[in-house]
Amino acid sequence: MTLAEPRHARPRHFLMCPPTHFDVTYAINAWMDPGKPVDRALALLQWERLRDLYLDLGHRVDLIDPLPGLPDMVYAANGATVVDGKALGARFRNPERAAEGPAYLEWLRERVPQAAEAGEVNEGEGDFLVAGPWLLAGTGFRSSRAAHAEAQEFFGRPVIGLELVDERYYHLDTALAVLTDDLVAYYPGAFSPGSRAVLERLFPDAVLADAADATVFGLNAVSDGRHVVLPAAATGLAGRLRERGFEPVGVDLSELLKGGGSVKCCTLELRWGR
Ligand code: ARG
Repeated sequence: MTLAEPRHARPRHFLMCPPTHFDVTYAINAWMDPGKPVDRALALLQWERLRDLYLDLGHRVDLIDPLPGLPDMVYAANGATVVDGKALGARFRNPERAAEGPAYLEWLRERVPQAAEAGEVNEGEGDFLVAGPWLLAGTGFRSSRAAHAEAQEFFGRPVIGLELVDERYYHLDTALAVLTDDLVAYYPGAFSPGSRAVLERLFPDAVLADAADATVFGLNAVSDGRHVVLPAAATGLAGRLRERGFEPVGVDLSELLKGGGSVKCCTLELRWGR
């Protein structure tokens, strides 16, 4: 088989939060089991490797101070959505994470010209993913349909609402990864039939992930257009990405998986400019 031409990377700017206070003390998704111990030192090591990898790939990584009592704050993707130099804060569905919204927004307010508090429940880039001109928006478990409308009005970008139907894939970024402006990878089984049809219409060439890729959080990936950082266990998906000219880079975030998150969850992209 002939391999596709290698693709071009664009340097990115990320915000991450060290897992200093990471723990699983409550269960708000199907992966979390407060009875299972978490090795925080290992979580920190795995998280540091991810940050170092981004730096090695030429990306910029800013850090936000982790707050005690917010064990899920390490999942920075949920903190906000930042596009076109505008930030829309998160408003969490679960009270356990509520205080993270203002913490991330405060950090962003000091740096972006336009940062707004959200009126509707949205969990940042957990459910809002930027693909070219569009904002792909998940709903069904966390972010609401009303939040999609609010985001469209705030950003002035067309929002494509997608219905998630499998509780294991409760955020859009657990079931779909944006690879380039016009290419995504996704697990069809996580979406309603109508949303699957929408994805087929918008992305006829999409890379399809199977159940094995999805259960190891393979779609919780970060692409710079060429390198796709994803859980190392997602070997099937990595192979398909390679065939399409991408360079998959596998990482082990097993401790962070205990909270129901992986690579993308730990990474908020800051799109300062247009
Ligand atoms: N424990 C967190 C929650 O359930 C995990 C968040 C994962 N983040 C993500 N972007 N999917 O809210």
